[in-house]
Order: sequence, then C-alpha cells, then structure tokens
Amino acid sequence: MTESTLLTVALQDRSYPIDIGAGLIEQAGKILAPLIQKPRVYIVTDENVAEHHLAPLQDSLQTSNIDSDYLILPPGESTKSFANLQVVVESMLSAKVERSTTVIALGGGVVGDLAGFAASVTLRGIDFVQIPTTLLAQVDSSVGGKTGINTGQGKNLAGSFYQPKAVLVDTDTLATLPDRERLAGYAEVCKYGLLGDLKLWEWLEKNGEKILSGDDKAITHAIEASCRAKARIVAEDERESGVRALLNLGHTFAHAFEAELGYSGALLHGEAVAFGMLMAFDLSVRLGLCPASDIDRVRTHFETVGLPVNPPELARNFTADVFLKHMAQDKKVADGALTFVLLHGIGQAFLTQNVSPRDVTATLNAALTA
Ligand SMILES: NC(=O)c1ccc[n+]([C@@H]2O[C@H](COP(=O)([O-])OP(=O)(O)OC[C@H]3O[C@@H](n4cnc5c(N)ncnc54)[C@H](O)[C@@H]3O)[C@@H](O)[C@H]2O)c1
Ligand SMILES: [Zn+2]
Repeated sequence: MTESTLLTVALQDRSYPIDIGAGLIEQAGKILAPLIQKPRVYIVTDENVAEHHLAPLQDSLQTSNIDSDYLILPPGESTKSFANLQVVVESMLSAKVERSTTVIALGGGVVGDLAGFAASVTLRGIDFVQIPTTLLAQVDSSVGGKTGINTGQGKNLAGSFYQPKAVLVDTDTLATLPDRERLAGYAEVCKYGLLGDLKLWEWLEKNGEKILSGDDKAITHAIEASCRAKARIVAEDERESGVRALLNLGHTFAHAFEAELGYSGALLHGEAVAFGMLMAFDLSVRLGLCPASDIDRVRTHFETVGLPVNPPELARNFTADVFLKHMAQDKKVADGALTFVLLHGIGQAFLTQNVSPRDVTATLNAALTA
C-alpha cells in the first residue's frame, strides 16, 4: 500500500477515518472492503470527474469483489437541486439498493453534498463514503457530515447532518482539477488559518504558491492541516451549536452573493468565500475589533495568489439591500438576529450577534464600490 496519513473524526459510534495520500483510488477496494456492510456500492459522480476517475475506482472495487453501479450527473452548483435529489434517490431505488448498500460520493462538494443528502433519506438512511476530488472538498466539504441542496431561497437550505463512514482523499485526483477550482479550494484552506491558526496562516503566506502550482508535499501538508482542524471542530460541536459556526467565516457574505448571482459558474463558492472573509475583516475593523493592518496582510496574500478581493463586477448591478435580504435568510439567523463570525485579528475569530445592520450595510457598500 502507498503511504497515507490516517486521521479520525471522533464522534463515538459515528467516528470515521480520513485517509489522505496519493493513489488511494487504486486502493479503494482494499480500503473500503472492511468498512462496508456488504460488497455492494452505488457511485454518484459528475461528468468531469467520471472522465478521469470513475474507471480506476470501478477497477479497484472489482479487484476486491465489490459490485458497483454508478450515476453520472451534470457538473456545477446548479446540480445541487431538489430535481437532482429526486434523480439520485430514484436511480438508486431503481437499481434496487438495499440498506446494506454503500453510496460513494466521487467528486467535489456538489456531488458530496447531494449524494450524502440522498444517502441520508434513501431507505431512511444508507451508509456513504466520501471520495473528494476537488481541493475544496478534500479540505472541507467531505468532512463533517453536512449534506444538502440549494433551494430558490438560498444555499444549502435543505439538508441533513449525516456523517460518512469514511473519507478517502486521493491527492492524485487534483492533477486533473482546473486551476480556477484549485484556487477556489485554497480559499477554504486559508479560512482555517484565518479563523484559528496564525502559524498555519504564516505557513500559507510562504507556501501558498507552491500549493497552487501543484507541489505534492505542500498540498498534502495543507490538506492534513485543514482536515485536522475540521475534524477537531466537528468532534467538539457536530451540530453547530457553538464553535463549529466559526467555520462559516466569510460565508454569510459569500452565500448572499452566491444566491444573487445564481449558481451559474460566474462565481465559485471558494471565490465568494475569499472576498467574504475580507468583508468579515472589514466589518471587524469598522467595529474597532481588529487592527487594520491585518486586513491589508490578508488582502496582499489573496492578491499574490490571485484570489478575488472584491465581489465581481456583476454584483455592482445590485444594492447592499439585496444582499442584506439574502443574509437574513441565512441559517445562522436566531431570533431574527444574524450571527457573525468576526475577528480580533488573524487566527482569532469569534461569534457575535451584536452587529447593527448599519455597519453591515457599510461593509457591503464598501465592497460594492471598491
Ligand atoms: N458540506 C460542507 O460542509 C461544505 C463545505 C464547503 C462547501 N460545500 C459545498 O461544496 C460545493 C462546492 O464544492 P466544489 O468547489 O468542490 O465544487 P464542484 O463539486 O462543483 O466541483 C468543481 C468543478 O470541478 C470539477 N471537478 C471535480 N473534481 C475534479 C477533478 N479531480 N478533475 C477535474 N475536474 C474536477 C467538477 O466537475 C466541477 O465542474 C458548494 O456547493 C458548497 O456549498 C459544502
Ligand atoms: Zn465553504
């Protein structure tokens, strides 16, 4: 077997391993055989991923005598819909999946969120395994058990907490990932540094460009550090009643822009998270909570690697009010008040409900006119 790093998400009887390494898809049959109830899996993937990574996965499963069916969906954020939830559930039922069948989500966050949600409702819940193939999914969405789809009202508003049985991170899959997607995933790596780990942030300032140019060692280090941080936070607060909400740094802003600009590919999730995190810094500086030098430091790094530091031109057709309304739809609203992730500085995020709409509007206006 190839060398890999094994982490654990510690959730009592729902604990599971995260296996990180090169060439793991080739080993998938062997790795999964002891983890699944019966040697039968149903693979959900998308067209782009299937082109490169479906056949090797099928071969590996076959070698270990695991039967597999598969479903290939169109790629893109708009796939995370009610309509496709129906497609996935009914395709699995037509293929006569049983409660002992395991769903494999082979793809990015879109496939993982949708297939995980489908697994959680099919036959009242069948096991699923994540094989994430984007940097974003490898450092974030495949770990932690949040599954779901988008609705007309906004991002991820229907879904479930449903933990996978295992996460297999094959770093080789990133070789086929388009640069823009890799960069978008890098924004979520930065998130872990910015919210709670100044040392990681400093390492990223030095090594970020290596990650983006495909340096294996740097990529593996970034994935391990991110998964370790996520596993720790999820183990502490699986259902987001506290500390897990810190992982939403920048996301309340990001989701509002994603909801308004549609899920067309004009704006990728990670891109929205990049300028969304800068907006969280802007709001924190405005409220006198964070030194202005920190926002400059983050902006400089984002500019160096090519992450967006402002919303796209397209957003300028809208007023701040439009985005405020989306933010009020966010899941983080409690008693009508939005919970914000703000910062005392790099690596020092905290939660607060104590933010006036006037200050949020000022941050939105600054971003929309920058
Ligand atoms: N569940 C969570 O905790 C969580 C966390 C963060 C983000 N998300 C969700 O994740 C989604 C974004 O995920 P994403 O950025 O992975 O997007 P994605 O799944 O749409 O993948 C991005 C693009 O890359 C292609 N692709 C994927 N892997 C590839 C590969 N190895 N080679 C070539 N092409 C490949 C896909 O077909 C797609 O076109 C959003 O819907 C977001 O809400 C969920
Ligand atoms: Zn995210």
